[in-house]
Amino acid sequence: MSGSLQARGVVKSYGAGRFRKRVVDACSFTVEADRFTVMIGPSGAGKSTLVRLLAGFEKPSSGEILIDGKPVRGAGPDRLVVFQETALFPWMTTLDNTLYGPKARGVAKSEADHRARALLERVGLGAFRDKYPTQLSGGMQRRAELARALINDPAVIILDEPFRGLDAMTRKLMLEYYGSLYERARRTSLFVTTDIDEAIFLADRLLIMSNLPTRVSAVIDVDLPRPRRLADIVGDDRANDIKAQALAILHQEALKSFASGSRAAADFIDAYARRSREGAAA
Ligand SMILES: Nc1ncnc2c1ncn2[C@@H]1O[C@H](COP(=O)(O)OP(=O)(O)OP(=O)(O)O)[C@@H](O)[C@H]1O
Ligand SMILES: [Mg+2]
Repeated sequence: MSGSLQARGVVKSYGAGRFRKRVVDACSFTVEADRFTVMIGPSGAGKSTLVRLLAGFEKPSSGEILIDGKPVRGAGPDRLVVFQETALFPWMTTLDNTLYGPKARGVAKSEADHRARALLERVGLGAFRDKYPTQLSGGMQRRAELARALINDPAVIILDEPFRGLDAMTRKLMLEYYGSLYERARRTSLFVTTDIDEAIFLADRLLIMSNLPTRVSAVIDVDLPRPRRLADIVGDDRANDIKAQALAILHQEALKSFASGSRAAADFIDAYARRSREGAAA
């Protein structure tokens, strides 16, 4: 299986009646198997909602999600998601959390154990194998989660801001580690972020998302050579061009949201003033 993931006319709304709110709006894009796709967009746009739909945890209100051309019906072990919020089992040590997937799939204990230990070393948690999630810092928890996802070697890996909350130095180390891992293993990858430098470093393709309700507002090819190192990207002319182009679109989206936000506030104040006047007159 190549593991290409496709969204076709996906719409997602929550709530009913006048409280109905559209979060994802006619979204169409493909996460190709051989190109690292990064989704970048404003906070609160609807990216995590889209991730839950792609992973099969929720159903679109309309439109469809396809994997290798076939409709996705629920979550599957072929797609692995690292969520923005930590999802480690609090009653398990870091090592046992990492071993959870292989155990569930019936992988031989010695083989799984060997891989888990090696992965935990790679993410800098070798000395924290026997600690419980509450004994780890937020950044360590993120790394433990990454190890727990990677050990299963899924065909499609979806990471929703996996490095959020890491300090700048650890973030850089993790980015380079994850980039090199991708270059070796080449799994279908969708990475969600709000950080433009992170996006450009990892991406072959950038999906720039609009504000709420989210859609793809632009697609930019990141034609920088691989293997990449963070040091190569800093000050690179091509990388800077791409960054300027992406930021211009993101800026437009931010302005639109600002304008609609202030319009909504103005409408609310008008309605409130009208009701008060009517109330006073009655
Ligand atoms: N189950 C739900 N019911 C109602 N509204 C929801 C639900 N899930 C998400 N939303 C709304 O959808 C909007 C988008 O949320 P989402 O978490 O997808 O954004 P995001 O782009 O991932 O933001 P961030 O960058 O901050 O993580 C929010 O306004 C949120 O309140
Ligand atoms: Mg999110």
